[in-house]
Amino acid sequence: MGTAEHQRIVLSGISPLNRGVERVCYVHPLEPELVIKVPLQVDKKKCGANEEELKGYHLLVKDKVKLDFISHCHGYVDTDMGQGLLCDCIRDADGEVSRTIWDIVIHQDDCDVNYIVEIAEKLCHTLKSNKVWIFDLNLKNIALQRKANGSYKPYIIDLKGRAVRTEFIPITRYIPYLSMKKLERRCNQLIDRIAEFRRRRFELQHHFGNE
Ligand SMILES: Nc1ncnc2c1ncn2[C@@H]1O[C@H](COP(=O)(O)OP(=O)(O)OP(=O)(O)O)[C@@H](O)[C@H]1O
Ligand SMILES: [Mg+2]
Repeated sequence: MGTAEHQRIVLSGISPLNRGVERVCYVHPLEPELVIKVPLQVDKKKCGANEEELKGYHLLVKDKVKLDFISHCHGYVDTDMGQGLLCDCIRDADGEVSRTIWDIVIHQDDCDVNYIVEIAEKLCHTLKSNKVWIFDLNLKNIALQRKANGSYKPYIIDLKGRAVRTEFIPITRYIPYLSMKKLERRCNQLIDRIAEFRRRRFELQHHFGNE
């Protein structure tokens, strides 16, 4: 048995924390402050979500902005469900894994929508004023960490989308003006959707995937 085999993390049998369109997310079985994201399907021809996220993370770090509003990534690990990406697990003051804006707005009965909009606006302001090019700002990609006093701190938990796969030339990587326009659009969309999705919450409760 080789070393890699020896260090393989066993995930089968553990219930996942959550799943996105492309990946399943587990709490690390031995290190609860970390999550492991494993692709649902591996397509060798396409750049995978993990590769794209790690690439996005490295681009962000290179810009040397203070990044206390993202879940940091720590590279790949070998698991029995394939190669996984290690990232910080966002947890509330009481130790529970933090919920996403989607979880709160769609599934929680008592939800102060105006307060959540305010948090999203502040996060967007931070992104724009620091020229942080994170574009995949959907409600499931932002976790709200609940502090002991009940306030929330937002963390972006999915850093894909800077080098977007669908764009043949990822032009927004190079032109700040276009990047800012794109970020503004995505921020406005995020903010509008919080109130809109709250209104449509019963219709959206069984929805799977991203809007
Ligand atoms: N760092 C984290 N801390 C806590 N929960 C997380 C973390 N990362 C992911 N999750 C949970 O796992 C879900 C899926 O994660 P992620 O967004 O990385 O998958 P995905 O396949 O890229 O999703 P999509 O492509 O739909 O955006 C999140 O919506 C969230 O509920
Ligand atoms: Mg996601």
